[in-house]
Amino acid sequence: MSPGRGWAIEPSRMSIRTLELDDTLYAYLQRVSLREPSLLRRLREETTALADEQARMQISAEQGQLMALLVRLLGARRTLEIGVFTGYSTLAVGLALPPDGRIIACDISKEWTDVARRYWEEAGVAHKIDLRLGAALRTLDSLLAADPAETFDFAFIDADKKSYDAYYERALMLLRPGGLIALDNMLWSGKVADPTVQDEDTRALRALNEKLHVDRRVDLSLIPIGDGLTLVRKRHEDPRQRGA
Ligand SMILES: C[S@@+](CC[C@H](N)C(=O)[O-])C[C@H]1O[C@@H](n2cnc3c(N)ncnc32)[C@H](O)[C@@H]1O
Repeated sequence: MSPGRGWAIEPSRMSIRTLELDDTLYAYLQRVSLREPSLLRRLREETTALADEQARMQISAEQGQLMALLVRLLGARRTLEIGVFTGYSTLAVGLALPPDGRIIACDISKEWTDVARRYWEEAGVAHKIDLRLGAALRTLDSLLAADPAETFDFAFIDADKKSYDAYYERALMLLRPGGLIALDNMLWSGKVADPTVQDEDTRALRALNEKLHVDRRVDLSLIPIGDGLTLVRKRHEDPRQRGA
């Protein structure tokens, strides 16, 4: 926003950059905007009790709410999820989908997804979720082989980081023009911006951020929510269509 004359806003408070959230402001944001359903809250609490360390893999509640909003905005019916864990993001999206909506959900862990299944059953969304246990790349390749048509409305990528680019390319092929891909952890606790960090996961995410920045097949926004959520909308091939 560029302030006009007469605006009584201190320069330091103008919205020319994203706010940093301290604990007080973060608590306020949650208090005035979060509408986490009780079942999702219970799943978060059970995940923390089961595995405090791994529970950090779960998306934040406000991110789940944003994704649910996006799914509703898109009118999404066919969706993909790569990385289920105990099923928080799957449940958030599943609750937002219409009764005939579907999620093809990919993970390799029976142990974690058994927790997820219990919550999907309790929420009455289990019929919307087709869990494919096994390496996600193989699942995506089989989807492409079975039906190369661009039919998915939404995809969420939140699994092993070194495969993100491969997941992105496959998801982009499976997506309809105008569809959306959300990629989690794209700020990676700040490590992507720290050149002294050179582990394989960080380098993979850093390279993908650079690639997405100039990828003309998509519109793009990296949202500083949770650990950084990149949204990419697949453009229509004909630029005269829908302003893409
Ligand atoms: C960050 S967690 C997903 C968190 C989940 N979206 C949530 O909201 O709770 C990553 C998940 O990816 C799964 N994963 C790791 N490598 C995978 C692979 N090659 N194929 C499929 N899933 C994989 C892990 O088992 C783990 O459950």
